[in-house]
Amino acid sequence: MRYSKEFFDLQIRFAQAIVALTGTRIEQALLDYTNIYIRFGLGRAFDRGHATWRCYADGLIHAVDICDWTYRFYLKRIEADQTRPPVATFGCFSYVMQDARLVRIHFQNAEPSTVSPLSIERLPVRLAELRSLFDHIGRNQQEATRIAGTSWLYNLRAYQRCFPDGYVSSAKIAESRFRHMPLWGQFLDRNGFVRTGIVEDFIRGLSNTKNIQDPASCFPLQALAVEASIEQFYCFYGIERDRWMSAL
Ligand SMILES: CC(C)(COP(=O)(O)OP(=O)(O)OC[C@H]1O[C@@H](n2cnc3c(N)ncnc32)[C@H](O)[C@@H]1OP(=O)(O)O)[C@@H](O)C(=O)NCCC(=O)NCCS
Repeated sequence: MRYSKEFFDLQIRFAQAIVALTGTRIEQALLDYTNIYIRFGLGRAFDRGHATWRCYADGLIHAVDICDWTYRFYLKRIEADQTRPPVATFGCFSYVMQDARLVRIHFQNAEPSTVSPLSIERLPVRLAELRSLFDHIGRNQQEATRIAGTSWLYNLRAYQRCFPDGYVSSAKIAESRFRHMPLWGQFLDRNGFVRTGIVEDFIRGLSNTKNIQDPASCFPLQALAVEASIEQFYCFYGIERDRWMSAL
C-alpha cells in the first residue's frame, strides 16, 4: 500500500514536538519516534549509519521543507520494502513464525476502497479467512503452540470480535511502539489516507503538551500486545485438529 503524504507529515510533526521538548536532534527523533525508517524499506535494525538513512538524514540539513524531502524520498524507496514476507496470507490476515512455537498474526486491508473490512457485513468473510489461516497453521506448523499479535486494532470491538475472548482479554499495553505501525496505524483509513478528526485531536494535544515524560500518552489508542494458546483458536473457528492430524 502507498501511504499518503499526510501520514508522513503527521509523524514528522510528532518528531518535531519531541525535539522541542527534549532537545534531541531531528534526525534522531525521526529515527526513534516515527515509522519512517521501516517505510523506507530499511528493515528493523534502526541503524543510523545505514547508507540510505545517511543519504536521507544528510538531505534533512539542506531541505527547504523536510516534509516534502521525506515524502519524495519515500516515493523513491517504495519498491525497496524489505519487510519479512509472511508465511501465508488469507485476505486481510497473514502470519509469520516468530519461532517454531510462536505464530504472529498481522492485518492489512485487502478489500476494495469502498468496503470497510471490519464492518459487521464483512465479519463472516474475515472469520472465513482466519479459519483458513488456522487450518494452514495446523497443517504446516506442527510445533506451534502460541498465537500473538500487537496492534492498536485490539482496542476496537470491530476487530476483537474476529478472535477468541481469551486472546483479546490477555491484552497488555505494548510500550515504546513509536517506530511501528501497530501504533501509527490508528491514524489511517483503509486507503492509506489519514483520518482527519483523530489527527486534529492528536495535533491539538501535542501542541498543549509541556512535559513529554510519556510521549505515548498523546496517542488516542495504545498498541496492545495479546497472546493465547493455539487451542483456543481451533475451538473458536471450529477446526477439528484430529481431522488433519490423522491425515499426516
Ligand atoms: C483498520 C483500518 C482498515 C480501518 O479503516 P476503515 O475501514 O477506513 O475504518 P472504518 O471507518 O470503516 O471503521 C471500522 C471500525 O473501526 C473503528 N475505527 C477505525 N479507526 C478507528 C480509530 N482510529 N479509532 C477508533 N475507532 C476506529 C470505527 O469506528 C468502526 O467501528 P464500528 O464498526 O464499531 O463503528 C485502517 O485503519 C487501516 O488500514 N489501518 C492501517 C493498517 C493497520 O493499522 N494495520 C495494523 C498494523 S498492526
